[in-house]
Amino acid sequence: MSDVLDLQDVSIRRGTTTILDGVSWTVRDGERWVVLGRNGAGKTTLLQIAAGRMHPSSGTADLLGSRLGRVDVFELRPRIGLSSAALADRIPAGELVRDVVLTAAYGVTGRWREAYESLDEGRAQDLMAAFGVDHLASRRFGTLSEGERKRAQIARSLMTDPELLLLDEPAAGLDLGGREELVSALAELARDRRSPVMVLVTHHVEEIPPGFTHLLLLRDGKVHSAGPMEETLTAENLSSAFGLELVVDRHGDRWAARAAS
Ligand SMILES: Nc1ncnc2c1ncn2[C@@H]1O[C@H](COP(=O)(O)OP(=O)(O)O)[C@@H](O)[C@H]1O
Ligand SMILES: [Mg+2]
Repeated sequence: MSDVLDLQDVSIRRGTTTILDGVSWTVRDGERWVVLGRNGAGKTTLLQIAAGRMHPSSGTADLLGSRLGRVDVFELRPRIGLSSAALADRIPAGELVRDVVLTAAYGVTGRWREAYESLDEGRAQDLMAAFGVDHLASRRFGTLSEGERKRAQIARSLMTDPELLLLDEPAAGLDLGGREELVSALAELARDRRSPVMVLVTHHVEEIPPGFTHLLLLRDGKVHSAGPMEETLTAENLSSAFGLELVVDRHGDRWAARAAS
């Protein structure tokens, strides 16, 4: 079976800036990756490539066995779920939560046709329940709290039953309760073997859900280190990737980091 994601020597240049610089990264079936790095390290740009929404300036990117540049990205995109702040901003505030989730089946925002298949209705219902937003189905998206919006958006990104799920800072802006609810929903998703391969971008090791197996550390557009979580998430790696002396603690299946005193 081919890799889910295989980037070889991928660079992204914009003018004189190199945003990604020779990134090679392979994601295989069943893996759950966390991507960590400072602001501006290139995490969002990397996810844009993984989502088939940006092409490398050089190097190759194979997504779900197809090479970017040779495949019709409009056929590829429904197979890849993406949740990001930029996409959330495009959801109309007046849209009902049920439709926010349901319309993903058609790759559109805004309810544009009345006759949804009952199969889709059932799936939307199940996903809203899994992410604890089923009681909000008849509310307008704009009236939800930040945490409820994030969970609705993740439910939406799973609607097409993607093979790969990409989450760009899903916990950003959440309060402690919201963050913990999200982490536990993602941990449950990670545990389920039927779930897609997942890639989660964050700045905070506290947001790593139990069950995530691998870590990619980015620094200045380059891969700093990558591999199985336990081996890779060390104080030494984190300190050099973030450019400050850090202590990393593990409490059960959760992580924490702070500046070394
Ligand atoms: N279109 C662009 N043109 C020039 N620079 C860009 C562009 N898009 C992003 N950048 C820069 O590339 C760097 C990486 O951005 P990004 O991938 O958003 O990082 P991260 O998500 O890790 O914070 C940042 O310094 C950003 O300012
Ligand atoms: Mg980003």
